[in-house]
Amino acid sequence: MSIHYEIVSDNDIACIKDLCNELMSYQKSKALIHPEWFDNMSFETRLIPSVESAKANFIIAAKDENEIIGYAYSNISLKNTYSGGFATLKPVDFFDFDSVKGNDVGCLSQFYIKEGYRNAGIGSVLFEKSMEWLNSFKSINDLFIFVSNGNDNALNFYQGKGFQVSHQLLDGFITVLRNA
Ligand SMILES: CC(C)(COP(=O)(O)OP(=O)(O)OC[C@H]1O[C@@H](n2cnc3c(N)ncnc32)[C@H](O)[C@@H]1OP(=O)(O)O)[C@@H](O)C(=O)NCCC(=O)NCCS
Repeated sequence: MSIHYEIVSDNDIACIKDLCNELMSYQKSKALIHPEWFDNMSFETRLIPSVESAKANFIIAAKDENEIIGYAYSNISLKNTYSGGFATLKPVDFFDFDSVKGNDVGCLSQFYIKEGYRNAGIGSVLFEKSMEWLNSFKSINDLFIFVSNGNDNALNFYQGKGFQVSHQLLDGFITVLRNA
């Protein structure tokens, strides 16, 4: 295994399409609450709209030789983006907007390492590189990670990296984590 890391440009996101769809299936397989909500979630409905609506995007990929075996996607967006419907018609604010000082927030939005490459430190490298990028926006203090229900492994991973559980959304479908 010879892992290296490469930034994926916004124009080149198709190269992570399959992994993004694997992430959606993985999250569905873990979910106990509304797993069917993942049925409409895909590269086309989640990643592309997010990249297009964000103010800035950062996608870092881990490669084993020429194969992309993992990626982390982070963005900077207007906090108001995190309002409205999500997989359901029920409108929801993802967090208390008054608890965020500025207009923008950072988010580690998607994170996936292929099975067989997990627990080898690759995710930690992608996480650190993503945090470096997010923290380079000096005016942005509020960072979020949204974890779907049943994914306790990811929840523990982020908590081990210093993020804290803030609250749950949509009857526990999502757990919201914030930077400390
Ligand atoms: C969550 C995920 C991205 C983490 O990536 P990873 O590459 O497995 O993460 P790491 O290997 O860096 O860390 C995992 C554990 O291995 C340990 N570890 C770190 N470096 C290691 C190394 N060199 N060798 C062995 N173990 C190591 C870490 O301490 C960590 O343990 P902890 O969670 O108890 O702190 C990955 O498991 C994954 O893709 N899961 C499926 C999809 C998913 O859940 N995505 C998140 C959606 S919110």
